[in-house]
Amino acid sequence: MIPQTTNQGFVMTEAGTPGVAYGLRGVTVDDTRICKIIGEEGRLYYYGYNILELAERCTYEEVVWLLLHGKLPNKTELAQITKDLKDARGLPFGVRDVIKSAPKTSIPMDVLRTAASALALTDPAPNDNSPEGIVRKAIRLIAQFPEIVAMDYRLRRGEEPVAPNPELDHAANFLYMLHGKAPGKDAARTMDVALVLHAEHSFNASTFTARVIAATLSDMYSAITGAIGALKGPLHGGANEGVIMTLLEIREPANIKPWLEKKFQDKGFRLMGFGHAVYKTLDPRAIVLKKYSKKTGEERGTTKWYEMSDQIEGIMKGREKPLYPNVDFYSASTYYMMGLPPEIYTPIFAVSRVVGWCAHVIEQQAHNKLIRPAANYIGEVDKPFVPMDQR
Ligand code: SDX
Repeated sequence: MIPQTTNQGFVMTEAGTPGVAYGLRGVTVDDTRICKIIGEEGRLYYYGYNILELAERCTYEEVVWLLLHGKLPNKTELAQITKDLKDARGLPFGVRDVIKSAPKTSIPMDVLRTAASALALTDPAPNDNSPEGIVRKAIRLIAQFPEIVAMDYRLRRGEEPVAPNPELDHAANFLYMLHGKAPGKDAARTMDVALVLHAEHSFNASTFTARVIAATLSDMYSAITGAIGALKGPLHGGANEGVIMTLLEIREPANIKPWLEKKFQDKGFRLMGFGHAVYKTLDPRAIVLKKYSKKTGEERGTTKWYEMSDQIEGIMKGREKPLYPNVDFYSASTYYMMGLPPEIYTPIFAVSRVVGWCAHVIEQQAHNKLIRPAANYIGEVDKPFVPMDQR
């Protein structure tokens, strides 16, 4: 009997009970207070605060405190987290050597994953999973990720790495270390908003990876290294690089329709930046990033990539089975208009999401249960053994 599937992805058993939930679609595996997504309505909350308000009114530092402590910081707490992040900057030599030794042909996400793992070797207490120890490591990872990405970015261009600037906050300092000069107010705020928007998203693939590793009572560095590996995939964080490559391949607005028609002849084709495992309408983060795609285009003197993105969105929403942009669709043209090259778009996603990963590691270990799902074995059992001379 060919198993049936339901829209949750369950394969019903012969007894008519839910069997396999491919991709864990529709399966609830734990409680969380960190993030709520209402997929049918396109709503997203960090600890109960609507993402649209947080993007509009918060800095990334405020969101770091919110995600690590469960409440918006007051002035003293904000000054504390800002200082802690600045004090935790400065890549250890051992990690700098790892980045320097990476082949120039290596993928930036591979360098980030390796350098993040090397951070554990330079931590005085990498396996200290006490509440203080785990928050200290979270702050160290959040503070160090921008410098790892920026150092790798500059070395690939034959440029000297730039040390962090203690005068600049998180987003501005990231751009400073990338370009070697302090960003303008607009660029700094655009990056800050992008970091707020990408910071957390409940049990997505990379976060759930971190939770699975944390659930074995392994350490924060192991969990974050695993999460980076998951985020790299083009079906997850790697999509933003795919979006800009799509726009550059289409090149002109007149090519959009024929390009899409040709691609969609292949049933397995997936348009990067569209669709979502949870949102079945517009991803609220795309609403905000669309505004910044237009804004950065106007600041740069060309809204072509924004216009093309808007045209593609209109076509995809008008299909028989509408598809909506997700967070990656407009972040691509925004970063491109900020003069950032495609190969660091997924590392930028990781620079932001590392706080969400850390928050989930903390929550998982606060009320832990080893994560160990069942498998639907579809092979044979009790097969007669075949000795070597009869195989
Ligand atoms: C992120 O989970 C998170 O929260 C992730 C994230 C976060 O913040 O952590 O939001 C970040 O990863 C966003 C997603 C980035 N990925 C992409 O943009 C890659 C392109 N998107 C697709 O691969 C897809 O939409 C997924 C993987 C994101 C979600 O896919 P689902 O829910 O598993 O859906 P599916 O692949 O089973 O497709 C269901 C239907 C299919 O049609 P039918 O076979 O039913 O006729 O929708 C179609 C698919 O063909 N479809 C697409 C499509 N996405 C879904 N068709 C073409 N292009 C797409 N992008």
